[in-house]
Amino acid sequence: MTEQDFLTVTDSRTGQDYKIPISDGTIRSTDLRKIRVSEKDHGLTSYDPGLFNTAVARSQITYLDGEAGVLEYRGYPIEQLAASASYLEVAYLLIYGHLPSEPELASWSEDISMHTFVHENIKNFMQGFRYDAHPMGMLLASVGALSTFYSDANSWDDPESIQLHVRRLIAKMPTLAAFAHRHNLGQPYVYPDNELSYTANFLSMLFKMSERHYTPDPRIERALEVLFILHADHEQNCSTTAVRVVGSSHADPYSCVAAGIAALYGPLHGGANEAVLKMLVKIGDISNVPDFIDGVKNGKQRLMGFGHRIYKSYDPRARLIKQAADDVFEVKGTSPLLRIALELEKRALEDEYFVSRKLYPNVDFYSGLIYQALGLPQEMFPVLFAMARTSGWVAQWLEMIRDPEQKIARPLQVYTGDRGLEYKPLSSR
Ligand code: ACO
Repeated sequence: MTEQDFLTVTDSRTGQDYKIPISDGTIRSTDLRKIRVSEKDHGLTSYDPGLFNTAVARSQITYLDGEAGVLEYRGYPIEQLAASASYLEVAYLLIYGHLPSEPELASWSEDISMHTFVHENIKNFMQGFRYDAHPMGMLLASVGALSTFYSDANSWDDPESIQLHVRRLIAKMPTLAAFAHRHNLGQPYVYPDNELSYTANFLSMLFKMSERHYTPDPRIERALEVLFILHADHEQNCSTTAVRVVGSSHADPYSCVAAGIAALYGPLHGGANEAVLKMLVKIGDISNVPDFIDGVKNGKQRLMGFGHRIYKSYDPRARLIKQAADDVFEVKGTSPLLRIALELEKRALEDEYFVSRKLYPNVDFYSGLIYQALGLPQEMFPVLFAMARTSGWVAQWLEMIRDPEQKIARPLQVYTGDRGLEYKPLSSR
């Protein structure tokens, strides 16, 4: 039997000592409630806006060590998955907790292909958006609308229904994402081609014109697959927390994923790669890089795509994305913006300002350049992120609904407003 570790606290208000058990490097915040000044006192509460230092779940999905630059899905290093796995294999791993066997992967891939089509009314629903509607808004609304198409949407506790929800969400997301893109272009929506792989089918729905059969360049297909793998999960980030919080009320999984998309829509979460592209365009020429770096050091602007709340060394995803970028540019030709990005990275990594603050390229530094090279507009960047992240959201949602410790999310507040005011009629205000 291991000896229990404790945190010993003395409350200076009462002089009383408390022993709070420590397990897995955490204390239970409800244990703080025992620390009271009187019988009537609600007990001590931790104040944590933005949940900086609060673990909200015990999770077995994604391991992240920001200091060491380590990212693992279900224990497998991201580098190995990006080198050898397919996106659907990784989605299976995240959702079911183990790498699929050959028959498991074949049946899972077949199942996903069987669910790629959406009801014609969903297509009609999307056609109702203005020609210039943001594709992320269209994705958010249409995923939310999916719940109204399935009578079992609310059967979140029925194992068979759950299997269907999981497959539908993974399978239909590329269809909805591609429809949103075609809508913006005013081009007819392209139906799924179930002969193609998950990623090739997505490219076909995005770019197919009059050709009988669309076959993407395998280097482009693989580069996109790698990007999807790198974005598939990132533990308890803003959008995943949104999925879990909405799911904690037992909302249907389509609404939960729509909540994740809504969170990812925000520029602080899903929009940084777009900001990188704007920055590169603004710099304009490689000769302007030194001045731009000086401006960053003088606090005039930030070097977008650098720095991360968790990673304090090279973001492992950024290194892998750089390789994918090389493959895409080999097919599509080099972008002048890539030369600026490479020069920025080189200079920043040699500069004391960035080195001392542990600022390294993050996942967004190169991903926007890749999407742009593929011919996608900036508005589509977060849509691709959402598509890839769906497997992570679904895995996290499943883990949450199966965890007996999870309750409906209901944080507390420190009330700082008025009390007991007397209502005055309109005429006397
Ligand atoms: N360029 C220049 N200086 C920076 C940058 C940057 N990109 N990021 C941080 N710093 C500096 C800060 O000015 C600060 O310096 P100081 O100590 O002299 O005041 C120091 O580094 C620490 O910065 P914080 O803002 O405290 O770090 P935090 O962890 O809060 O921020 C963040 C992380 C928001 C990602 C930040 O690095 C940033 O704004 N980066 C650019 C935007 C970006 O690329 N976002 C994508 C993140 S990845 C993702 O969300 C998928």
